[in-house]
Amino acid sequence: MKKTNDIPGPKRLGIFSCIRNLVSDSWAEQKRLHKKYGDIVYLKYPQKVIFGFHPEIVNYILKENSKNFKKGKRFQPLSSLLGNGLVISEGDIWKKSRRIVGNEFNPKAIKRFVPLFLEEIQEMIETWKKKCEREGGPIEVDINKEMMTLTYKIIGKALFGKFLGHQADIIQTHLGEATDIIIKRIMTGVSLPKILPTPDNLAIKRINNEFEQIVYGILDEKENPLDENGSANVLSKLMAANRKEGKLALSRKQMRDEIMTLMLAGHETTSNLLTWTFYLLSKSLDKEKNLLNDLENFDPENLEEKTYLDAVILESMRIFPPVPLLSRESIEEDVLLGYKIPKGTTVFVAAMITQNDPRFFESPETFSPERFLDKDPYQNRPGSYFPFGLGTRRCIGEEFALTEAKIILGTLFKNFHFSLRPGFVPKPVPSITLQAKTGLLMNIKPRTKV
Ligand code: HEM
Repeated sequence: MKKTNDIPGPKRLGIFSCIRNLVSDSWAEQKRLHKKYGDIVYLKYPQKVIFGFHPEIVNYILKENSKNFKKGKRFQPLSSLLGNGLVISEGDIWKKSRRIVGNEFNPKAIKRFVPLFLEEIQEMIETWKKKCEREGGPIEVDINKEMMTLTYKIIGKALFGKFLGHQADIIQTHLGEATDIIIKRIMTGVSLPKILPTPDNLAIKRINNEFEQIVYGILDEKENPLDENGSANVLSKLMAANRKEGKLALSRKQMRDEIMTLMLAGHETTSNLLTWTFYLLSKSLDKEKNLLNDLENFDPENLEEKTYLDAVILESMRIFPPVPLLSRESIEEDVLLGYKIPKGTTVFVAAMITQNDPRFFESPETFSPERFLDKDPYQNRPGSYFPFGLGTRRCIGEEFALTEAKIILGTLFKNFHFSLRPGFVPKPVPSITLQAKTGLLMNIKPRTKV
């Protein structure tokens, strides 16, 4: 077995410029590290950090030996918003929440959300069509912004049974600000103690207070027993399930953390998936044509399996994974690719690098849904494809997100023609999710015939 210090990586001052670059342009820096040092890279200072770009490492830490890898200290900055919700919690608290919340998101339970998806999409279609009529031709929209609002309205209604109105605007405005602070803390490993009145600490505190007011407000409102009957929304079902659990129920604080987690984890991810899919299709007209042919039989209430639309979504998440970076911390000493790693090491795995590696995906830069048409990407080399994570901590909202994305894309493409604003180049910026920081400007016009 080789020693930790033998793992390739920058030394001394090189480490600090590397960390600086990871904050300013994370994707470019990850690509540089991979190219220069290879499949495993060690940043010894200021904390022990490894970048694992090889599928074997991904599969090992997320699945095969996940019991030796906890979420760890790099997730702590997230807890300033998500408390001890599902994304962060460990052990018995995680098990209990996963069981109770998981029930609401199992594949069979997802069908009940389809009318809600359709209602919100229909509203968007009407608005766009009216605008096109008023302007007498194509209109320009920022698809990224539109998808963010659409998925936000959907998750709000799915969770609470109603649209959060102006509260949605407050949350949306603050979300960007909060994630910028959090990702900086995750990448640098530096968070000053909460009690220090630094601008970032004060901002997080202010944002958190506003979020809490909204979430506790809704929780209190929902504690009214008259509200629970017959409602399909997640919160009232969770509260009903919770009451049955007796001693095993989730505490009020835990409910707040779970709701906050679902709200935040449940829309920006899907919205970014949609944004990047629109972009990729706008750059490959032949693929868009294949999609339109496939959509002739599209029925949102009766989605078929393994269609071209499914392959488009899988391929989009390969090139632009909505969650670009995952991390774990080793509980005990372990071995990665033959190198010893000490206990307490943070291991980052980067979907944007591994899923775009020519050794595991032929011509990775080409958007080719065909590669997944008759092939399950998870059957490729284990650990080479992981947009929803792997193993026991795999995403709880996968089925919800995929159904939502399929219905949104299928319905919108049947109704509109989309083209990228000439000369516009979007900028993928890996934060907690893969954001389109400058938006995605597209011209749209109603489609006369598919
Ligand atoms: C395209 C959309 C989505 C993507 C790509 C995505 C991706 C992920 C990934 C990669 C993880 C694993 C994190 C890790 O291992 O550290 C995860 C976990 C999670 N996701 Fe998603 N997600 C999406 C949509 C959703 C939605 C719609 C919801 C809820 C409605 C959701 C809720 C969660 C939760 C609660 C976890 C934590 C699960 C656990 O640790 O037990 N996600 N997601």
